[in-house]
Amino acid sequence: MFEVVRAYIAEAKSFQPSSKEELEQFRLRFISKKGLLGDLFSKLKDVAAEERKEFGLLVNELKQAAEGKILEFKDAFETESSIDFKGQDLTLPGEPLNTGSFHPLTLVRKEIISIFSRIGFNVSDGPEIEDDWHNFSALNFPPEHPARDMQDTFFIDLTPDQTIYNGSLALRTHTSSIQVRVMDKQKPPIRTICPGRVYRNEAISARAHCFFHQVEGFYIDEKVSFADLKQTLLYFAQEMFNADTKIRLRPSYFPFTEPSAEMDISCQICKGSGCNVCKYSGWVEILGCGMIDPAVLENGKIDPSTYSGFAFGMGIERIAMMKYAVNDLRIFSDNDVRFLRNFKGVL
Ligand code: DAH
Repeated sequence: MFEVVRAYIAEAKSFQPSSKEELEQFRLRFISKKGLLGDLFSKLKDVAAEERKEFGLLVNELKQAAEGKILEFKDAFETESSIDFKGQDLTLPGEPLNTGSFHPLTLVRKEIISIFSRIGFNVSDGPEIEDDWHNFSALNFPPEHPARDMQDTFFIDLTPDQTIYNGSLALRTHTSSIQVRVMDKQKPPIRTICPGRVYRNEAISARAHCFFHQVEGFYIDEKVSFADLKQTLLYFAQEMFNADTKIRLRPSYFPFTEPSAEMDISCQICKGSGCNVCKYSGWVEILGCGMIDPAVLENGKIDPSTYSGFAFGMGIERIAMMKYAVNDLRIFSDNDVRFLRNFKGVL
């Protein structure tokens, strides 16, 4: 009897499972309810009294040896894959893992917001279907003013019972329409940018589209000057492109700013030496800007004798074309994944 238990102990101690199944067999044989240990413990009462202690110690030794093995190998087979690799060629290339990516216009919009938020600008919004007041009249385009011809507008037909200022609704032609909406709600200091989609009734080509995206920006406070505008735009250009980027301001005309200007940046493609993107001038126009016309401030119920402000408006596509060296605007709305999957940036 003792010899049998000693043999079991030796067996348990030398046990080396090579699989989960073997370990389970071992557990069933020794530890389970109907296993050897239970059997031996139940035999304890049949052992002669003077030998019982020694027998008990032996069975306990067996119990510890068996339980020790189970503990030792409990986790050993957990990581073993349940996949059967037999017959499979593990040297074959794997399936590519397709992950989503941001649209390049989203990346540029987020970057513009991030750049301006670092100097205290917040983000404002306005409707894409806009009334005449906010898109034109409040911005100093009087009815029949020839400047309205600058915008080829998608007008929306109104039913006779609809009464809108000046009788018209349109898809906004620029995000400048948000200016007076913000002025209606906030008083200076105002520092905000307004990203959004705009619509123009234009034939689609490599350089023009019937819808595109803009970011309007403006700052109104006491004593805001053209120097503030210039420095803000220089900061923006150098953050958006690179620290060597130069800007130049050319006099221009917009009804809602006085004086007005257009801003060029040194061409990012040829670094100013001349190429077909900048038409060999070394400069590319990226935005319109100026000092907010006092009449526009008045339309926003802000007193122009106390406050002044600057404004600017830029096309997101135009910036993205420069940044990613793209020469056809249409590619941004084609939704061709072969183009889109090149933009992995996360912000
Ligand atoms: N709204 C103008 C456009 O769509 C862009 C613009 C020019 C915005 C001058 C401005 C500005 O705020 O001051 O062409």
